[in-house]
Amino acid sequence: MKLLITGGAGYIGAHVASLAKRSGHEIIVVDDLSTGLADRVDCEIVNIDIATDESVSALSRLMKKHRFEAVIHFAAKKQVGQSVELPEHYYQQNIGGLANLLLAMRANKVHKLVFSSSAATYGIPEIDYPNEDYPAAPINPYGETKLIGEWMVKNASVWGLKGVNLRYFNVAGCEAPELADTAEFNLIPIAIGMLKRGEKPKVFGTDYPTKDGSCVRDYVHVGDLAAAHLMAVDYLAAERQEFKTFNVGTGTGASVFEVLAEIKKASSIDFEIEIASRRAGDPPKLVADTSRIEKILGFKANHGLEEIVRSAWSAAS
Ligand SMILES: NC(=O)c1ccc[n+]([C@@H]2O[C@H](COP(=O)([O-])OP(=O)(O)OC[C@H]3O[C@@H](n4cnc5c(N)ncnc54)[C@H](O)[C@@H]3O)[C@@H](O)[C@H]2O)c1
Repeated sequence: MKLLITGGAGYIGAHVASLAKRSGHEIIVVDDLSTGLADRVDCEIVNIDIATDESVSALSRLMKKHRFEAVIHFAAKKQVGQSVELPEHYYQQNIGGLANLLLAMRANKVHKLVFSSSAATYGIPEIDYPNEDYPAAPINPYGETKLIGEWMVKNASVWGLKGVNLRYFNVAGCEAPELADTAEFNLIPIAIGMLKRGEKPKVFGTDYPTKDGSCVRDYVHVGDLAAAHLMAVDYLAAERQEFKTFNVGTGTGASVFEVLAEIKKASSIDFEIEIASRRAGDPPKLVADTSRIEKILGFKANHGLEEIVRSAWSAAS
């Protein structure tokens, strides 16, 4: 298939582009390189900032030239804290960018879209394993942009769009060092970065109602997540279904202490841990109910926490 991947120079997009290419798909990447790295990509990159008005005609020209069968849309800003400081920027980038993409897709009759959503759409759920029907209630502008993005994908069925929203849980690890996550916004890269700088990794809150008192999350290997995207594209190509949302995770939780223990193992460094107080907005436990994606797409994560941490550590070494 001929695929357009927006944000394909980013951490997750580059993994998907690489897997898609190896699976025989033809890929074009659109990316403005605002947080991405051109070196991650082994195919044509077209530099377009999709959040600008002009991007609609630039994307349209590209779609006319290439006749894409489907689009996988990653291009967005993803820093939760920054989204609280700069909400308008996040609405412009994440919602505006998707609106421009949909306008170009509609005008050029590109009818299949896989959208990067997030477990941030759940906010602080009252249950540990939310499924996709659990009411979404994001607690920050970033999560809101993802939920609104899901609605936009759903509402575009009016002109025949078939869309899949993938709600990623905690994405980590890498398939190759050059594809690694170089930003420090999630526990694993943050802890590894601190360790490399000789600082003590921190645990925020040790009095949560969890197995060891620290927060529990669902860590999914980026290689497994990449496979889920190609399954979603195949699903859109085969099914008459217009719209579906899927959690993407492992269905198993790991605590902050367990993650740090894996980092000790991978690094062979017996580092000290700093205990800090709870942060606002951290649910005690957030793990995906993966029954829908298992049943409908046949997705099952193949990598566990040990492989995730080992790959992240060796990429940083
Ligand atoms: N990393 C995670 O844990 C996680 C979890 C849930 C959802 N997501 C979502 O997955 C997607 C990819 O995340 P990532 O971790 O690879 O982030 P990333 O920052 O590495 O990748 C985003 C890519 O999009 C590009 N981009 C950003 N704004 C753009 C614009 N206006 N025009 C064109 N290109 C633009 C960037 O240059 C970058 O290459 C994002 O939509 C993010 O919200 C990520």
